[in-house]
Amino acid sequence: MRLTVIGTGYLGATHAICMAVLGHEVLALDRDLDRLEALAGGRVPFHEPGLPEMLRKALDSGRLRFTDDVAEVAAFGDVHFVCTGTPQLPGSMGADLSQVEGAVTALAPHLERPCLVVGKSTVPVGTAERLAATLAALAPVGEAAGLAWNPEFLREGHAIEDTLRPSRLVLGVTSDDARERLEAAFAPLLAAGVPCVVTDLATAELVKVAANSFLATKISFINAMAEVCEASGADVHQLAAALALDDRIGGRFLKPGLGFGGGCLPKDIRAFIHRAEELGTGHSVRFLREVDDINQRRRGRTVELVREAAGGDLRGVRVCVLGAAFKPHSDDVRDAPALDVARRLHEEGARVVVVDPQALDNARRTHPELEYAGSALEAAAGAHVVALLTEWDQFRGLDPARLGAVVERRAVVDARGALDPVAWRAAGWTHRGLGAA
Ligand code: UGA
Repeated sequence: MRLTVIGTGYLGATHAICMAVLGHEVLALDRDLDRLEALAGGRVPFHEPGLPEMLRKALDSGRLRFTDDVAEVAAFGDVHFVCTGTPQLPGSMGADLSQVEGAVTALAPHLERPCLVVGKSTVPVGTAERLAATLAALAPVGEAAGLAWNPEFLREGHAIEDTLRPSRLVLGVTSDDARERLEAAFAPLLAAGVPCVVTDLATAELVKVAANSFLATKISFINAMAEVCEASGADVHQLAAALALDDRIGGRFLKPGLGFGGGCLPKDIRAFIHRAEELGTGHSVRFLREVDDINQRRRGRTVELVREAAGGDLRGVRVCVLGAAFKPHSDDVRDAPALDVARRLHEEGARVVVVDPQALDNARRTHPELEYAGSALEAAAGAHVVALLTEWDQFRGLDPARLGAVVERRAVVDARGALDPVAWRAAGWTHRGLGAA
């Protein structure tokens, strides 16, 4: 098939590359010329394991091209996938839909032959129906330009696996033609047995926000238990291990620690609260406010632990922060808990030196007030407190004796439960973690 992908951010680039590898002719559109040049030259402009190799394969096949010309895209595609971002609006919990709306209104006037426009972006329920009306009104071919919704569940760090072997496909459609076009686009996945749920537009939009809300709730549940453990002398890691053995509960997304961040979970639960309130059913998801609050409190508690480890006052204290990315295997620093904590420590007067295997360039751009180092040993030189805030394997594997030789004081705060307290204490460190007394 001839597919187009509008928006070559994280989601769009991965989707375009994988669809070309699956055998489709793909034309990807972006208005960012630097990004297009990088991708066309075989460079992925973000960190995603395995994606550069897949991009090379897609380019070598001759089936993947890039453009900034929307008319070319309209003329080329049988199916157009909209993969633009929906960040949180400044000063509101709601989502900024301008990029998704802009993509559809820019494309529609050029649609002169029957096609299907498919939204993949995460949007508030009701958006697709509105966009379908916009499309029908603006497209020269009228109702022969259909609209469908196909939410994406890919995780950063597992983008290829989640695109080529997703847990499920959700096809939100209003016609047989739309369903058939989507089934043809995903034919290799369906043939491989990927479960497929066909729904209406609203349900497809909701599946995505409901899934992310559930995951966020699970994380905040165990972090709420961490607060109770801290107050009662129990140990949340042992608690989580015991809960996980009940397969009705399961251990995934039950990892206690500094909580969730990134470009998806935090803004998606807020946009969901906002949309539910608009629909007059705010009470149904009121618990998500609590989920958000629990998540934010973990950041505050981590700052408290570092302050305590520093003797009660952070002014003039040198803190080595291990981790900047919102999670390991990513260079994404959007709403990164680690950088939020680092910023707060800095605001309280600490001299903060951050190290991260992949996210330093992005962190430098968003947090120029912090200092950065190229290695953990360099960041820890002269530190009064070491704080592990993103659980990269490189940090898990640090030798407490080697690090102990360069710091000023052997005090470590492990906000991700990634270090072995016994080994660190044996090497002369005071060790504090979240979720234990
Ligand atoms: C999330 C969802 O997992 C994807 O299914 C979804 O497609 C994506 O959002 C999206 O909406 O596009 P992602 O943001 O890449 O994916 O990250 P996750 O792996 O879900 O992690 C989110 C945050 O939760 C990270 O900060 C991570 O450190 C934290 N986390 C995760 C925990 O604190 N504990 C856990 O047990 C699991």
